[in-house]
Amino acid sequence: MGLRSFVWFFLLCMLFEGLAKGIVGLACNWGTRTTHPLPPTIVVKLLKDNGFNKVKLFEADPGALKALGKSGIEVMVGIPNEFLAPLASGVRVAEDWVTQNVSSYISKYGVDIRHVAVGNEPFLKTYKDTFLKTTFPALQNIQAALIKAGLGRQVKVTVPLNADVYQTEDGLPSGGNFRSDIRSLMISIIKFLSDNGGALTINIYPFLSLYADPHFPVDYAFFNGSAAPVVDGSISYTNVLDANFDTLISALEKNGFSSMPVIIGEVGWPTDGDVNANMKYAQRFNQGLLDRIKAGRGTPKRPTPPDIYLFALIDEDAKSIDPGKFERHWGIFYFDGVIKYSLNMVNGQSLVPAKGVKYLAREWCVMAPEASLSDPNLPQSVNYACTYSDCTSLGYGSSCGTLDERSNASYAFNMYYQTLDQRKGTCDFSNLSVITKVDPSQDTCRFEIMIDLKKHENPRSPTPSSMAAAGRSQNSLLQLVAGALGLIACILWGF
Ligand SMILES: *[C@@H]1O[C@H](CO)[C@@H](O)[C@H](O)[C@H]1NC(C)=O
Ligand SMILES: *[C@@H]1O[C@H](CO)[C@@H](O)[C@H](O)[C@H]1NC(C)=O
Ligand SMILES: *[C@@H]1O[C@H](CO)[C@@H](O)[C@H](O)[C@H]1NC(C)=O
Ligand SMILES: *[C@@H]1O[C@H](CO)[C@@H](O)[C@H](O)[C@H]1NC(C)=O
Repeated sequence: MGLRSFVWFFLLCMLFEGLAKGIVGLACNWGTRTTHPLPPTIVVKLLKDNGFNKVKLFEADPGALKALGKSGIEVMVGIPNEFLAPLASGVRVAEDWVTQNVSSYISKYGVDIRHVAVGNEPFLKTYKDTFLKTTFPALQNIQAALIKAGLGRQVKVTVPLNADVYQTEDGLPSGGNFRSDIRSLMISIIKFLSDNGGALTINIYPFLSLYADPHFPVDYAFFNGSAAPVVDGSISYTNVLDANFDTLISALEKNGFSSMPVIIGEVGWPTDGDVNANMKYAQRFNQGLLDRIKAGRGTPKRPTPPDIYLFALIDEDAKSIDPGKFERHWGIFYFDGVIKYSLNMVNGQSLVPAKGVKYLAREWCVMAPEASLSDPNLPQSVNYACTYSDCTSLGYGSSCGTLDERSNASYAFNMYYQTLDQRKGTCDFSNLSVITKVDPSQDTCRFEIMIDLKKHENPRSPTPSSMAAAGRSQNSLLQLVAGALGLIACILWGF
Protein backbone atom coordinates (compact mmCIF):
# COMPACT_ATOMS: atom_id res chain seq x y z
CA MET A 1 0.00 0.00 0.00
CA GLY A 2 1.06 3.60 -0.57
CA LEU A 3 2.43 5.79 2.16
CA ARG A 4 -0.74 7.83 2.43
CA SER A 5 -3.02 4.84 2.79
CA PHE A 6 -0.54 3.31 5.20
CA VAL A 7 -0.75 6.40 7.38
CA TRP A 8 -4.53 6.26 7.26
CA PHE A 9 -4.43 2.60 8.08
CA PHE A 10 -2.07 3.24 10.95
CA LEU A 11 -4.39 5.90 12.35
CA LEU A 12 -7.32 3.52 12.05
CA CYS A 13 -5.41 0.87 13.95
CA MET A 14 -4.60 3.41 16.65
CA LEU A 15 -8.30 4.22 16.87
CA PHE A 16 -9.15 0.55 17.10
CA GLU A 17 -6.57 0.15 19.82
CA GLY A 18 -8.10 3.10 21.57
CA LEU A 19 -11.53 1.54 21.42
CA ALA A 20 -10.22 -1.78 22.70
CA LYS A 21 -8.55 -0.01 25.60
CA GLY A 22 -11.87 1.48 26.62
CA ILE A 23 -11.17 5.05 25.59
CA VAL A 24 -14.83 5.31 24.64
CA GLY A 25 -15.74 6.26 28.15
CA LEU A 26 -19.03 6.39 29.90
CA ALA A 27 -20.29 8.81 32.51
CA CYS A 28 -23.04 8.56 35.09
CA ASN A 29 -24.67 10.21 38.07
CA TRP A 30 -24.11 8.73 41.51
CA GLY A 31 -26.81 10.02 43.84
CA THR A 32 -26.60 9.25 47.54
CA ARG A 33 -30.12 10.05 48.81
CA THR A 34 -30.78 6.56 50.08
CA THR A 35 -31.59 5.10 53.47
CA HIS A 36 -29.20 2.18 52.90
CA PRO A 37 -26.30 3.31 50.75
CA LEU A 38 -23.95 0.81 49.20
CA PRO A 39 -20.47 1.20 50.68
CA PRO A 40 -18.63 3.72 48.45
CA THR A 41 -15.79 1.29 47.69
CA ILE A 42 -18.33 -1.20 46.30
CA VAL A 43 -19.86 1.56 44.16
CA VAL A 44 -16.47 2.56 42.77
CA LYS A 45 -15.79 -1.04 41.82
CA LEU A 46 -19.26 -1.22 40.25
CA LEU A 47 -18.41 1.88 38.18
CA LYS A 48 -15.10 0.44 37.00
CA ASP A 49 -16.50 -3.01 36.27
CA ASN A 50 -19.07 -1.42 33.97
CA GLY A 51 -16.72 0.85 32.05
CA PHE A 52 -17.66 4.16 33.67
CA ASN A 53 -14.73 6.58 33.62
CA LYS A 54 -16.59 9.72 34.70
CA VAL A 55 -19.00 10.28 37.54
CA LYS A 56 -21.11 13.18 38.79
CA LEU A 57 -21.88 13.65 42.46
CA PHE A 58 -24.64 15.97 43.69
CA GLU A 59 -22.60 17.07 46.65
CA ALA A 60 -19.07 16.76 47.96
CA ASP A 61 -19.89 13.53 49.78
CA PRO A 62 -16.74 12.65 51.77
CA GLY A 63 -17.22 8.86 51.57
CA ALA A 64 -17.79 8.88 47.82
CA LEU A 65 -14.90 11.26 47.15
CA LYS A 66 -12.41 9.30 49.25
CA ALA A 67 -13.38 6.06 47.52
CA LEU A 68 -12.91 7.73 44.13
CA GLY A 69 -9.33 8.68 45.01
CA LYS A 70 -6.78 7.13 42.62
CA SER A 71 -9.59 5.19 40.90
CA GLY A 72 -8.89 6.61 37.43
CA ILE A 73 -12.45 7.99 37.38
CA GLU A 74 -12.94 11.68 36.59
CA VAL A 75 -15.28 13.47 38.98
CA MET A 76 -17.80 16.28 38.69
CA VAL A 77 -18.65 17.56 42.18
CA GLY A 78 -22.02 19.22 42.63
CA ILE A 79 -23.05 22.06 44.90
CA PRO A 80 -26.67 21.89 46.13
CA ASN A 81 -28.89 24.92 45.50
CA GLU A 82 -29.08 25.77 49.23
CA PHE A 83 -25.38 26.69 49.05
CA LEU A 84 -25.88 29.22 46.25
CA ALA A 85 -26.89 32.16 48.46
CA PRO A 86 -23.97 31.84 50.89
CA LEU A 87 -21.51 31.25 48.02
CA ALA A 88 -22.87 34.31 46.23
CA SER A 89 -22.39 36.43 49.35
CA GLY A 90 -18.62 36.59 49.17
CA VAL A 91 -15.57 35.08 47.58
CA ARG A 92 -14.22 34.00 51.02
CA VAL A 93 -17.12 31.56 51.45
CA ALA A 94 -16.34 30.13 48.04
CA GLU A 95 -12.64 29.87 48.91
CA ASP A 96 -13.50 27.89 52.05
CA TRP A 97 -15.78 25.65 50.06
CA VAL A 98 -13.11 24.96 47.43
CA THR A 99 -10.42 24.36 50.06
CA GLN A 100 -12.51 21.87 51.99
CA ASN A 101 -14.41 20.17 49.22
CA VAL A 102 -12.09 20.25 46.22
CA SER A 103 -8.43 21.03 47.00
CA SER A 104 -8.14 18.65 49.95
CA TYR A 105 -9.58 15.71 48.01
CA ILE A 106 -7.24 16.33 45.10
CA SER A 107 -4.12 16.70 47.20
CA LYS A 108 -4.81 14.27 50.07
CA TYR A 109 -6.74 11.53 48.33
CA GLY A 110 -5.79 11.85 44.68
CA VAL A 111 -9.35 12.43 43.49
CA ASP A 112 -9.40 13.43 39.82
CA ILE A 113 -11.88 16.32 40.13
CA ARG A 114 -12.48 17.93 36.72
CA HIS A 115 -15.68 19.92 37.21
CA VAL A 116 -17.56 21.74 39.90
CA ALA A 117 -21.28 21.86 39.13
CA VAL A 118 -22.64 25.00 40.77
CA GLY A 119 -26.27 24.39 41.72
CA ASN A 120 -28.62 21.78 40.33
CA GLU A 121 -31.22 22.99 37.82
CA PRO A 122 -31.46 26.33 39.68
CA PHE A 123 -33.59 27.97 36.96
CA LEU A 124 -36.21 25.23 36.92
CA LYS A 125 -39.57 26.93 36.34
CA THR A 126 -41.06 25.36 39.47
CA TYR A 127 -38.41 27.10 41.64
CA LYS A 128 -39.74 30.45 40.37
CA ASP A 129 -37.09 33.15 41.00
CA THR A 130 -35.52 31.58 44.10
CA PHE A 131 -32.03 31.13 42.64
CA LEU A 132 -32.05 33.68 39.82
CA LYS A 133 -29.99 36.26 41.69
CA THR A 134 -27.51 33.95 43.41
CA THR A 135 -26.48 31.40 40.77
CA PHE A 136 -24.25 33.60 38.61
CA PRO A 137 -22.42 35.32 41.53
CA ALA A 138 -21.88 31.90 43.15
CA LEU A 139 -20.47 30.61 39.87
CA GLN A 140 -18.11 33.57 39.59
CA ASN A 141 -16.95 33.19 43.19
CA ILE A 142 -16.28 29.47 42.79
CA GLN A 143 -14.32 30.17 39.60
CA ALA A 144 -12.25 32.83 41.39
CA ALA A 145 -11.66 30.45 44.29
CA LEU A 146 -10.52 27.67 41.95
CA ILE A 147 -8.03 30.04 40.29
CA LYS A 148 -6.77 31.18 43.69
CA ALA A 149 -6.30 27.52 44.70
CA GLY A 150 -4.21 26.97 41.57
CA LEU A 151 -6.87 24.72 40.06
CA GLY A 152 -8.09 27.03 37.30
CA ARG A 153 -6.78 24.79 34.54
CA GLN A 154 -7.67 21.39 35.93
CA VAL A 155 -11.12 22.09 37.34
CA LYS A 156 -13.84 23.73 35.24
CA VAL A 157 -17.04 25.24 36.53
CA THR A 158 -20.45 24.56 35.04
CA VAL A 159 -24.14 24.90 36.00
CA PRO A 160 -26.35 21.86 35.32
CA LEU A 161 -29.60 23.26 33.95
CA ASN A 162 -32.88 21.68 33.08
CA ALA A 163 -33.80 21.73 29.40
CA ASP A 164 -36.61 24.11 30.34
CA VAL A 165 -34.12 27.01 30.10
CA TYR A 166 -34.74 26.96 26.36
CA GLN A 167 -37.81 26.51 24.20
CA THR A 168 -38.92 26.72 20.65
CA GLU A 169 -41.67 28.99 19.45
CA ASP A 170 -42.60 27.08 16.30
CA GLY A 171 -42.12 23.58 17.74
CA LEU A 172 -39.05 22.99 15.58
CA PRO A 173 -35.46 22.70 16.83
CA SER A 174 -34.34 25.51 14.51
CA GLY A 175 -36.73 27.85 16.37
CA GLY A 176 -34.87 27.33 19.66
CA ASN A 177 -33.96 30.17 21.97
CA PHE A 178 -33.49 30.72 25.69
CA ARG A 179 -36.56 31.35 27.82
CA SER A 180 -37.36 35.03 27.55
CA ASP A 181 -37.45 35.62 31.34
CA ILE A 182 -33.84 34.43 31.76
CA ARG A 183 -32.37 35.07 28.31
CA SER A 184 -29.93 37.83 29.28
CA LEU A 185 -28.86 35.91 32.40
CA MET A 186 -28.25 32.78 30.30
CA ILE A 187 -26.16 34.78 27.85
CA SER A 188 -24.04 36.24 30.69
CA ILE A 189 -23.50 32.79 32.20
CA ILE A 190 -22.64 31.16 28.88
CA LYS A 191 -20.19 33.95 28.06
CA PHE A 192 -18.57 33.49 31.46
CA LEU A 193 -18.32 29.69 31.06
CA SER A 194 -16.94 30.14 27.56
CA ASP A 195 -14.30 32.67 28.72
CA ASN A 196 -13.16 30.21 31.38
CA GLY A 197 -13.00 27.17 29.12
CA GLY A 198 -16.06 25.58 30.71
CA ALA A 199 -19.06 23.84 29.21
CA LEU A 200 -22.80 24.31 29.46
CA THR A 201 -24.50 21.37 31.17
CA ILE A 202 -28.09 20.46 30.29
CA ASN A 203 -30.32 17.70 31.64
CA ILE A 204 -32.67 16.24 29.04
CA TYR A 205 -35.51 13.87 29.86
CA PRO A 206 -37.45 12.17 27.08
CA PHE A 207 -39.28 10.21 29.82
CA LEU A 208 -40.66 13.44 31.23
CA SER A 209 -41.94 14.47 27.78
CA LEU A 210 -43.97 11.30 27.81
CA TYR A 211 -44.96 11.66 31.49
CA ALA A 212 -46.14 15.24 31.04
CA ASP A 213 -48.14 14.72 27.87
CA PRO A 214 -50.39 11.67 27.40
CA HIS A 215 -50.58 12.49 23.67
CA PHE A 216 -46.82 12.43 23.21
CA PRO A 217 -45.98 9.83 20.52
CA VAL A 218 -44.33 7.04 22.55
CA ASP A 219 -41.98 5.91 19.79
CA TYR A 220 -40.55 9.41 19.42
CA ALA A 221 -39.06 9.04 22.92
CA PHE A 222 -36.81 6.20 21.75
CA PHE A 223 -34.00 5.92 19.24
CA ASN A 224 -35.38 3.13 17.09
CA GLY A 225 -39.03 4.08 17.14
CA SER A 226 -41.38 4.34 14.20
CA ALA A 227 -42.95 7.68 15.08
CA ALA A 228 -43.48 10.12 12.22
CA PRO A 229 -40.31 12.22 12.00
CA VAL A 230 -40.34 15.93 12.77
CA VAL A 231 -39.16 17.66 9.61
CA ASP A 232 -37.15 20.82 10.20
CA GLY A 233 -35.89 22.19 6.89
CA SER A 234 -33.47 19.63 5.51
CA ILE A 235 -33.31 17.67 8.78
CA SER A 236 -35.71 14.90 9.83
CA TYR A 237 -35.78 14.28 13.57
CA THR A 238 -36.71 10.75 14.58
CA ASN A 239 -36.29 11.08 18.36
CA VAL A 240 -36.93 13.74 20.97
CA LEU A 241 -33.40 13.70 22.42
CA ASP A 242 -31.87 14.82 19.11
CA ALA A 243 -34.61 17.40 18.61
CA ASN A 244 -34.28 18.73 22.14
CA PHE A 245 -30.48 18.91 22.01
CA ASP A 246 -30.54 20.68 18.65
CA THR A 247 -33.08 23.17 19.99
CA LEU A 248 -30.34 24.13 22.46
CA ILE A 249 -27.72 24.28 19.70
CA SER A 250 -30.02 26.64 17.76
CA ALA A 251 -30.44 28.80 20.85
CA LEU A 252 -26.64 28.93 21.25
CA GLU A 253 -26.16 29.79 17.56
CA LYS A 254 -28.73 32.60 17.71
CA ASN A 255 -26.88 34.20 20.59
CA GLY A 256 -23.40 33.92 19.13
CA PHE A 257 -22.14 30.75 20.83
CA SER A 258 -22.26 28.25 17.99
CA SER A 259 -19.19 26.36 19.19
CA MET A 260 -20.00 26.39 22.93
CA PRO A 261 -19.23 22.94 24.40
CA VAL A 262 -22.25 21.18 25.91
CA ILE A 263 -22.45 18.34 28.41
CA ILE A 264 -25.62 16.30 28.92
CA GLY A 265 -25.65 16.21 32.72
CA GLU A 266 -28.54 13.79 33.16
CA VAL A 267 -30.45 11.51 30.83
CA GLY A 268 -32.07 8.15 31.51
CA TRP A 269 -35.31 6.27 32.09
CA PRO A 270 -36.89 5.09 35.37
CA THR A 271 -38.21 1.56 35.91
CA ASP A 272 -40.99 2.01 38.43
CA GLY A 273 -43.53 4.39 39.92
CA ASP A 274 -45.45 5.19 36.73
CA VAL A 275 -47.09 3.32 33.83
CA ASN A 276 -44.34 4.50 31.46
CA ALA A 277 -41.61 3.76 33.96
CA ASN A 278 -40.91 0.08 33.41
CA MET A 279 -38.09 -2.31 32.59
CA LYS A 280 -38.99 -2.64 28.93
CA TYR A 281 -38.96 1.07 28.20
CA ALA A 282 -35.90 1.73 30.37
CA GLN A 283 -33.96 -1.02 28.61
CA ARG A 284 -35.02 0.19 25.20
CA PHE A 285 -34.08 3.78 25.94
CA ASN A 286 -30.80 3.16 27.75
CA GLN A 287 -29.61 0.52 25.29
CA GLY A 288 -30.31 2.91 22.44
CA LEU A 289 -28.42 5.63 24.28
CA LEU A 290 -25.43 3.38 25.01
CA ASP A 291 -25.30 2.25 21.38
CA ARG A 292 -25.12 5.88 20.27
CA ILE A 293 -22.36 6.66 22.76
CA LYS A 294 -20.42 3.60 21.64
CA ALA A 295 -20.80 4.57 17.99
CA GLY A 296 -19.76 8.15 18.77
CA ARG A 297 -22.97 9.44 17.20
CA GLY A 298 -24.04 13.02 17.82
CA THR A 299 -27.11 14.93 16.66
CA PRO A 300 -27.85 16.37 13.20
CA LYS A 301 -26.56 19.80 14.21
CA ARG A 302 -23.66 18.55 16.38
CA PRO A 303 -22.21 15.38 14.84
CA THR A 304 -19.57 15.21 17.59
CA PRO A 305 -21.31 13.67 20.59
CA PRO A 306 -21.27 15.48 23.95
CA ASP A 307 -20.24 13.87 27.22
CA ILE A 308 -23.38 12.16 28.47
CA TYR A 309 -23.93 11.43 32.17
CA LEU A 310 -26.39 8.58 32.47
CA PHE A 311 -29.05 9.07 35.14
CA ALA A 312 -28.58 7.08 37.17
CA LEU A 313 -26.33 4.39 38.51
CA ILE A 314 -28.46 3.23 41.46
CA ASP A 315 -31.93 3.82 42.88
CA GLU A 316 -32.36 6.30 45.74
CA ASP A 317 -35.21 5.49 48.14
CA ALA A 318 -34.98 8.76 50.06
CA LYS A 319 -35.34 11.15 47.12
CA SER A 320 -38.20 13.61 47.12
CA ILE A 321 -41.19 12.31 45.15
CA ASP A 322 -42.62 15.78 44.48
CA PRO A 323 -41.93 15.36 40.74
CA GLY A 324 -43.47 11.86 40.79
CA LYS A 325 -43.10 8.39 42.33
CA PHE A 326 -40.69 7.40 39.55
CA GLU A 327 -38.02 9.65 41.14
CA ARG A 328 -36.76 6.79 43.30
CA HIS A 329 -36.29 4.37 40.39
CA TRP A 330 -33.88 5.87 37.87
CA GLY A 331 -31.04 3.42 38.50
CA ILE A 332 -29.76 0.93 35.97
CA PHE A 333 -29.16 -0.99 39.21
CA TYR A 334 -31.39 -1.35 42.25
CA PHE A 335 -30.22 0.42 45.44
CA ASP A 336 -28.05 -2.60 46.25
CA GLY A 337 -26.28 -2.87 42.90
CA VAL A 338 -28.43 -5.77 41.62
CA ILE A 339 -29.04 -5.70 37.85
CA LYS A 340 -32.57 -4.72 36.80
CA TYR A 341 -32.38 -5.59 33.09
CA SER A 342 -29.65 -6.52 30.67
CA LEU A 343 -27.58 -3.88 28.89
CA ASN A 344 -24.61 -4.10 26.57
CA MET A 345 -22.22 -1.50 27.89
CA VAL A 346 -19.82 0.59 25.80
CA ASN A 347 -16.93 -1.65 26.91
CA GLY A 348 -18.63 -4.43 24.93
CA GLN A 349 -19.60 -6.36 28.04
CA SER A 350 -22.92 -6.95 29.72
CA LEU A 351 -23.68 -5.38 33.08
CA VAL A 352 -21.72 -6.58 36.09
CA PRO A 353 -23.57 -6.38 39.46
CA ALA A 354 -22.15 -5.04 42.73
CA LYS A 355 -19.98 -7.51 44.60
CA GLY A 356 -19.51 -8.13 48.29
CA VAL A 357 -22.80 -6.56 49.43
CA LYS A 358 -23.75 -7.56 52.98
CA TYR A 359 -27.46 -7.94 53.59
CA LEU A 360 -29.62 -8.16 56.70
CA ALA A 361 -31.03 -11.64 57.51
CA ARG A 362 -33.12 -13.37 54.82
CA GLU A 363 -36.43 -12.64 56.50
CA TRP A 364 -39.43 -10.53 55.65
CA CYS A 365 -42.26 -8.92 57.58
CA VAL A 366 -45.68 -9.82 56.14
CA MET A 367 -49.35 -9.67 57.08
CA ALA A 368 -50.15 -12.51 59.50
CA PRO A 369 -52.20 -15.30 57.86
CA GLU A 370 -54.77 -15.19 60.67
CA ALA A 371 -55.13 -11.39 60.52
CA SER A 372 -58.32 -10.15 58.93
CA LEU A 373 -58.58 -7.72 56.04
CA SER A 374 -61.44 -6.09 57.87
CA ASP A 375 -59.34 -5.38 60.98
CA PRO A 376 -59.94 -1.71 61.77
CA ASN A 377 -56.22 -1.21 62.48
CA LEU A 378 -55.14 -2.30 59.01
CA PRO A 379 -55.49 0.94 56.99
CA GLN A 380 -53.67 3.07 59.54
CA SER A 381 -50.94 0.44 59.97
CA VAL A 382 -50.28 0.32 56.22
CA ASN A 383 -50.37 4.08 56.12
CA TYR A 384 -47.90 4.34 58.98
CA ALA A 385 -45.52 1.83 57.35
CA CYS A 386 -45.59 3.75 54.07
CA THR A 387 -45.04 7.10 55.75
CA TYR A 388 -41.67 5.95 57.05
CA SER A 389 -40.56 3.82 54.11
CA ASP A 390 -40.70 3.74 50.34
CA CYS A 391 -44.00 2.42 48.93
CA THR A 392 -43.59 4.00 45.47
CA SER A 393 -43.73 0.55 43.84
CA LEU A 394 -47.34 0.05 44.97
CA GLY A 395 -49.06 2.55 42.70
CA TYR A 396 -51.09 1.91 39.56
CA GLY A 397 -48.90 0.59 36.73
CA SER A 398 -45.95 0.04 39.07
CA SER A 399 -44.03 -3.17 39.78
CA CYS A 400 -46.23 -4.08 42.78
CA GLY A 401 -49.40 -2.42 41.48
CA THR A 402 -51.29 -5.68 40.94
CA LEU A 403 -50.83 -7.17 44.42
CA ASP A 404 -54.01 -8.14 46.25
CA GLU A 405 -54.89 -6.29 49.45
CA ARG A 406 -53.16 -8.80 51.69
CA SER A 407 -49.88 -8.78 49.74
CA ASN A 408 -50.16 -5.02 49.46
CA ALA A 409 -50.19 -4.72 53.25
CA SER A 410 -47.32 -7.20 53.45
CA TYR A 411 -45.29 -5.10 51.05
CA ALA A 412 -45.80 -1.99 53.18
CA PHE A 413 -44.97 -3.82 56.43
CA ASN A 414 -41.84 -5.30 54.91
CA MET A 415 -40.56 -2.00 53.56
CA TYR A 416 -40.93 -0.50 57.01
CA TYR A 417 -39.25 -3.48 58.68
CA GLN A 418 -36.29 -3.41 56.25
CA THR A 419 -35.92 0.36 56.22
CA LEU A 420 -35.68 0.22 60.02
CA ASP A 421 -32.95 -2.44 59.72
CA GLN A 422 -35.14 -5.35 60.90
CA ARG A 423 -34.85 -3.91 64.37
CA LYS A 424 -36.76 -5.48 67.25
CA GLY A 425 -40.37 -4.30 67.40
CA THR A 426 -40.46 -3.02 63.82
CA CYS A 427 -42.59 -5.94 62.60
CA ASP A 428 -45.31 -5.28 65.12
CA PHE A 429 -48.36 -3.69 63.53
CA SER A 430 -51.14 -4.20 66.11
CA ASN A 431 -50.66 -7.98 65.83
CA LEU A 432 -51.33 -7.84 62.10
CA SER A 433 -47.84 -8.85 61.02
CA VAL A 434 -45.45 -11.74 61.32
CA ILE A 435 -41.86 -12.49 60.27
CA THR A 436 -41.36 -15.11 57.55
CA LYS A 437 -38.34 -16.80 55.98
CA VAL A 438 -40.21 -17.44 52.73
CA ASP A 439 -39.54 -14.79 50.10
CA PRO A 440 -42.92 -13.14 49.39
CA SER A 441 -41.69 -11.62 46.06
CA GLN A 442 -44.03 -12.30 43.13
CA ASP A 443 -43.85 -11.59 39.41
CA THR A 444 -42.40 -8.10 38.97
CA CYS A 445 -42.77 -7.24 42.66
CA ARG A 446 -39.55 -7.46 44.63
CA PHE A 447 -39.77 -7.74 48.43
CA GLU A 448 -36.46 -6.19 49.37
CA ILE A 449 -33.98 -6.99 52.06
CA MET A 450 -31.86 -4.02 53.00
CA ILE A 451 -28.12 -3.73 53.13
CA ASP A 452 -26.56 -4.43 56.52
CA LEU A 453 -24.17 -1.57 56.98
CA LYS A 454 -22.87 -2.72 60.34
CA LYS A 455 -21.88 -6.24 59.30
CA HIS A 456 -19.80 -4.68 56.59
CA GLU A 457 -17.12 -3.95 59.19
CA ASN A 458 -16.69 -7.71 59.79
CA PRO A 459 -12.93 -8.29 59.48
CA ARG A 460 -13.48 -11.78 58.02
CA SER A 461 -15.16 -10.46 54.92
CA PRO A 462 -12.90 -9.27 52.11
CA THR A 463 -12.02 -5.63 52.69
CA PRO A 464 -13.36 -3.20 50.12
CA SER A 465 -9.87 -1.94 49.21
CA SER A 466 -8.57 -5.44 48.48
CA MET A 467 -11.62 -6.01 46.25
CA ALA A 468 -11.06 -2.73 44.44
CA ALA A 469 -7.46 -3.80 43.87
CA ALA A 470 -8.63 -7.14 42.47
CA GLY A 471 -11.00 -5.30 40.16
CA ARG A 472 -8.23 -3.06 38.98
CA SER A 473 -5.90 -5.87 37.98
CA GLN A 474 -8.75 -7.76 36.30
CA ASN A 475 -9.66 -4.68 34.29
CA SER A 476 -6.14 -3.93 33.14
CA LEU A 477 -5.70 -7.58 32.18
CA LEU A 478 -8.86 -7.39 30.06
CA GLN A 479 -7.65 -4.18 28.49
CA LEU A 480 -4.29 -5.77 27.73
CA VAL A 481 -5.95 -8.78 26.09
CA ALA A 482 -8.34 -6.55 24.13
CA GLY A 483 -5.45 -4.34 23.05
CA ALA A 484 -3.39 -7.32 21.91
CA LEU A 485 -6.34 -8.78 19.98
CA GLY A 486 -6.89 -5.40 18.35
CA LEU A 487 -3.27 -5.23 17.29
CA ILE A 488 -3.32 -8.78 15.90
CA ALA A 489 -6.54 -8.03 14.01
CA CYS A 490 -4.95 -4.91 12.57
CA ILE A 491 -1.84 -6.79 11.46
CA LEU A 492 -3.84 -9.65 9.90
CA TRP A 493 -6.09 -7.17 8.15
CA GLY A 494 -3.09 -5.23 6.93
CA PHE A 495 -1.54 -8.19 5.08
C1 LIG B 1 -17.85 21.96 51.95
O1 LIG B 1 -17.19 23.07 52.58
C2 LIG B 1 -17.98 23.87 53.43
C3 LIG B 1 -17.11 24.98 53.96
O2 LIG B 1 -17.21 26.05 53.12
C4 LIG B 1 -18.62 23.05 54.51
O3 LIG B 1 -19.44 23.84 55.33
C5 LIG B 1 -19.41 21.93 53.87
O4 LIG B 1 -20.04 21.15 54.84
C6 LIG B 1 -18.50 21.09 52.99
N1 LIG B 1 -19.16 19.89 52.48
C7 LIG B 1 -20.08 19.81 51.51
C8 LIG B 1 -20.66 18.46 51.28
O5 LIG B 1 -20.43 20.76 50.85
C1 LIG C 1 -35.24 -1.02 19.95
O1 LIG C 1 -34.02 -1.32 20.57
C2 LIG C 1 -34.15 -2.04 21.78
C3 LIG C 1 -32.82 -2.09 22.44
O2 LIG C 1 -31.78 -2.34 21.55
C4 LIG C 1 -34.74 -3.40 21.45
O3 LIG C 1 -34.88 -4.15 22.63
C5 LIG C 1 -36.11 -3.19 20.82
O4 LIG C 1 -36.64 -4.42 20.43
C6 LIG C 1 -36.03 -2.27 19.61
N1 LIG C 1 -37.38 -1.92 19.23
C7 LIG C 1 -37.76 -1.76 17.96
C8 LIG C 1 -39.16 -1.33 17.75
O5 LIG C 1 -36.99 -1.93 17.03
C1 LIG D 1 -51.97 -0.72 48.41
O1 LIG D 1 -51.39 0.25 49.28
C2 LIG D 1 -51.26 1.53 48.74
C3 LIG D 1 -50.50 2.37 49.75
O2 LIG D 1 -51.14 2.38 50.98
C4 LIG D 1 -52.63 2.07 48.36
O3 LIG D 1 -52.48 3.34 47.74
C5 LIG D 1 -53.31 1.11 47.40
O4 LIG D 1 -54.62 1.54 47.15
C6 LIG D 1 -53.35 -0.28 47.98
N1 LIG D 1 -53.88 -1.22 46.99
C7 LIG D 1 -54.68 -2.25 47.32
C8 LIG D 1 -55.08 -3.16 46.23
O5 LIG D 1 -55.06 -2.44 48.46
C1 LIG E 1 -51.88 -8.37 70.44
O1 LIG E 1 -52.09 -9.68 70.94
C2 LIG E 1 -51.83 -9.80 72.32
C3 LIG E 1 -51.88 -11.30 72.72
O2 LIG E 1 -52.83 -11.98 71.95
C4 LIG E 1 -52.83 -8.95 73.08
O3 LIG E 1 -52.60 -9.04 74.46
C5 LIG E 1 -52.70 -7.50 72.62
O4 LIG E 1 -53.70 -6.70 73.22
C6 LIG E 1 -52.83 -7.39 71.12
N1 LIG E 1 -52.49 -6.03 70.71
C7 LIG E 1 -53.25 -5.31 69.89
C8 LIG E 1 -52.78 -3.91 69.60
O5 LIG E 1 -54.24 -5.74 69.34
